[in-house]
Amino acid sequence: EEIPWSAEMATKGGYAHFMLKEIYEQPESLATTVAGLEGLEAAAASLLSARNIYVVGAGSSLHAGLVFAQLLLRIKATPVPVVASEYAAYEPLFDKGDAAVAISQSGETIDTIKAVRAMRERGVRVLSVTNVVGSTITRESDVVVYTRAGPEIGVAATKTFTTQVATLSAIYAAMLKALGYDTAPMEREIKALPDLARKAVENTAGAAKDLARRLKAKPSAYYLGRGSAVPVAMEGALKLKEVAYIHAEAYPAGESKHGPIALVEDGFPVLFVFSDPNTREKTLSNVAEMKARGAYTIGTVPARSDIAKRLDYAIEVPESGELAAPILHVIPLQLLAYFTAVERGYDPDKPRNLAKTVTVE
Ligand code: G6P
Repeated sequence: EEIPWSAEMATKGGYAHFMLKEIYEQPESLATTVAGLEGLEAAAASLLSARNIYVVGAGSSLHAGLVFAQLLLRIKATPVPVVASEYAAYEPLFDKGDAAVAISQSGETIDTIKAVRAMRERGVRVLSVTNVVGSTITRESDVVVYTRAGPEIGVAATKTFTTQVATLSAIYAAMLKALGYDTAPMEREIKALPDLARKAVENTAGAAKDLARRLKAKPSAYYLGRGSAVPVAMEGALKLKEVAYIHAEAYPAGESKHGPIALVEDGFPVLFVFSDPNTREKTLSNVAEMKARGAYTIGTVPARSDIAKRLDYAIEVPESGELAAPILHVIPLQLLAYFTAVERGYDPDKPRNLAKTVTVE
């Protein structure tokens, strides 16, 4: 029997698409990233002495930044999340004494680079988090911390997003350490990320594939969460739009009554991200509201919690501390987008109208 072979298959390592390969590579890319982290103390010191901390990025990198900005609030730093393309609105604020964290997988996104230039012109110290050594952003930043996800071929960011969140979590832990807190438990959690991510991929792929079949004919979906689950919901919705071409809207669950719930009728899919233990009860009340309107309620829930039985469809994610949770909960959302694209007959590696890196304004 002839074994089918092509050079393309070889580079995909036996996976049908790069996106799937890169989702499965996350345990390894997290391990390499965490082991290779350098310069955290200097980064932490620079951020702790800043007045405002601008957190800048586009697309998935912006979502990683939003996870980080919420963490900063806890240490009474003053994070200012900045959508890269909207930096001009913040320009009057930029001043020496401020710092910025600029997040860009490629290090070449024009909007992010322009924001960095504008900030540095006004004396803002820029720390960039990027995956590409020698990229433009590295040459225009004061300090660089690298993610080591390896090259990402799929247009939709997967392993580069989770390694960004891991890196930013490590910077947050370093800031707490500098403030005198015992960060040993957090450091252990960060070291455990590769194992946790491996379990998340293995334990959720089957459910994500099954759910994809149920979602493939739906025209629209909501992705909801509260607290630190909000940026995870945003990232999940972005993946579904990018590769499966299903309209997906993410917003903080508490906003439902202020408009979005008007669209909900029988079978409308509403996906809840239960990655934030502090907002579980309130999110559950949003589940009940949506159910009462006939929504098809889905959730990514911590394993062994009793949240699953309150939903029509639950995907169980390994239990973890709160730094790992955004990373672990986004994994089934990446898989769901991937399998939904495939179910709908699209090539998730080559989404229409999208580029891996946007270098024109
Ligand atoms: C494009 C890609 C996204 C990415 C965004 C930001 O839109 O399709 O996956 O998140 O650019 O890219 P960057 O390289 O700056 O992280």
